[in-house]
Amino acid sequence: MAVSTGQPAIEVSDLHKSYAGHEAVRGIDFTVSRGEVFGLLGPNGAGKTTTVEILEGYRERTSGTVSVLGMDPGERSRALRERVGIVLQSSGMYRFVTVREAVAHWAAMYPAPRDVDEVVALAGLQEKQDAYVRSLSGGQARRLDFALALIGDPELIFLDEPTTGFDPAARRQAWDTVRSLADLGKTILLTTHYLDEAQALADRVAIIKTGRILAIGTPAELGVGSATRVRVSWRDENGTPQEREVEDPTRLVHELTSAAIARGTSVAELTVTRPSLEDVYLELTSAGDTDGEPAGVARV
Ligand SMILES: Nc1ncnc2c1ncn2[C@@H]1O[C@H](COP(=O)(O)OP(=O)(O)OP(=O)(O)O)[C@@H](O)[C@H]1O
Ligand SMILES: [Mg+2]
Repeated sequence: MAVSTGQPAIEVSDLHKSYAGHEAVRGIDFTVSRGEVFGLLGPNGAGKTTTVEILEGYRERTSGTVSVLGMDPGERSRALRERVGIVLQSSGMYRFVTVREAVAHWAAMYPAPRDVDEVVALAGLQEKQDAYVRSLSGGQARRLDFALALIGDPELIFLDEPTTGFDPAARRQAWDTVRSLADLGKTILLTTHYLDEAQALADRVAIIKTGRILAIGTPAELGVGSATRVRVSWRDENGTPQEREVEDPTRLVHELTSAAIARGTSVAELTVTRPSLEDVYLELTSAGDTDGEPAGVARV
C-alpha cells in the first residue's frame, strides 16, 4: 500500500477525553501517514470509538491536539467533511427509504460523489437496492453504511468496526474494497475486534486499553518484535506433547531432528511458530489493569 511522506493525514497528540469524571482517553499520540491503513485494536470500552469520533468531529475532546487533513475536526468545517467518509459503530438513520435512495441522497451532499450504481455494486447491494433500509439484515445494513462512507469519494475514511455482522464472504469482499481504496491512495483508519482483519488490512496498528496505547507498529513487527520468543512444539517418542519457547529455534530443532534421525524416526507434529498478532494482543491486553501510572508504549 502506497504510504506517502509529507504532511500526515492524521496527527493526534496527548489526546484526553473525559465523560462526567470518567477518563475514557488518557493521553494518546499517533500519526497516520497519507495513504496508510491504520488499525485501532483494543477491548470493549478501550476508547477506540471515542478517539475515532473526535477525529470525525462528532465528539469534543477534553484536551490535546488533533489534526485531520491539516484541519481541526473540532471546528466541524464543511471543507473537512467533504473530504472524509465515515462508517459509525452504530447507525440507522435511513429506515424509510430504499437502499438506492439512501445512497443517492448521501451522494447529493458531496461536491464530487462517486457513481451511485458503482457504489451500490461495490457494497454488494445490487439485489437489495430497491428494498427499504428497515428490511435489511444486520450485515446488509452494515454494507449500506459502507456504501455511504464511500459515496463522497473521500480521501480519508473512518471505519469503526466496518465488518461486524458480515458473513465470511462479505468480510472478504469488504477487505477487497478496503484494499482497492488503499491502492487508490486513500487513507483509512479502522477499528476492529478481528485480528485477522487487522493483520490482513492494516499497515500499522495501535493496541489501546483503558484509554492508553500499549503498543504501536506493523502487525508483523508487533508479532515478532514485542514477544521475542518462538514456540517450538512436537510429540516426543512416547507421543507426549512438548512445547518450548526459545529465542532462536535453530539449536532445539537441530537437536530434535538429529536425535529422531539417529533413531530412524521423525519428529511427530513438529511446528515452529512466531506469536501472531492475536497472541501479542491477548498478552498485552490481559496484563494487569493499567489504571494509575501511565503504561510504557512499546514502539517497534
Ligand atoms: N457518550 C458517553 N458518555 C459517557 N461515557 C461514554 C460515552 N461514550 C463512551 N463512554 C465510555 O468511554 C469508554 C470508552 O468507550 P468507547 O466507545 O470509546 O470504547 P470502544 O473502545 O469503542 O469500545 P467497543 O470495542 O466496545 O466499541 C467506555 O468506558 C464507555 O463506557
Ligand atoms: Mg467502539
